[in-house]
Amino acid sequence: MSVADERSVSAEARVAGAEKLVLALPKGRVMAASMAALREAGLRLAPRADGRALRYDAGDAIVIEMRNADVPTYVELGVADAGIVGKDVLLEMGSRLAEPVDLGFAACRLSLIRPVGASGTIERVATKYPRLTASYLARRGSSAEVVKLNGNVELACLTGLADAVVDVVETGGTLRDNDLEEVDVIGHSSARLVVNRASLKLRGERLRPLIEGLRRLPGAF
Ligand code: PRP
Repeated sequence: MSVADERSVSAEARVAGAEKLVLALPKGRVMAASMAALREAGLRLAPRADGRALRYDAGDAIVIEMRNADVPTYVELGVADAGIVGKDVLLEMGSRLAEPVDLGFAACRLSLIRPVGASGTIERVATKYPRLTASYLARRGSSAEVVKLNGNVELACLTGLADAVVDVVETGGTLRDNDLEEVDVIGHSSARLVVNRASLKLRGERLRPLIEGLRRLPGAF
């Protein structure tokens, strides 16, 4: 069967609701916890056989792996039926996806961070969360400039690129190791199950037991 034929059969099977669920999962430290939670909720998911495959058949579901921030897009556009992503990402995107389960893990704070003992007016804030940061600064009446970075945001404080950063604090290890401190907590985040609304209707017989199974896990609600 050609790849085109396979795609066509696959599309028909999806319409009929007969094909496996497609799950969008974030690479990195949340991946292992996500796979564990999905297994505990009743899915039989095999470990990936090919260490570099970005899309693989794990048994009860097809897993597609991507950066955290891309999970909502894959679910919103229906390429994935469901996904697991941090609330921080959903808030930053202004996501309107259905979030039926707070999974409880990957719990962290979104905080304003400065070098230990820093004082004085904040002129520039670096962050991966420009929308949340701008709205936080506006609420505080600050006119500080917001600079978007893509990773290792705390480096901005260490190098003088910015006099504060807004970033995620999970264990606090990054702050301790870099002489930084939380000045204010802006919000809280944890991993959420997000689902595509059409999938919920068309493939509810597969998605609903998964949602119920995840809700029953310790720490989830
Ligand atoms: C996140 C975040 C902090 C760190 C906080 O970075 O941006 O740097 O984790 O965690 P901690 O409080 O446990 O030290 P991540 O490792 O996801 O990498 P990134 O900054 O490149 O996105």
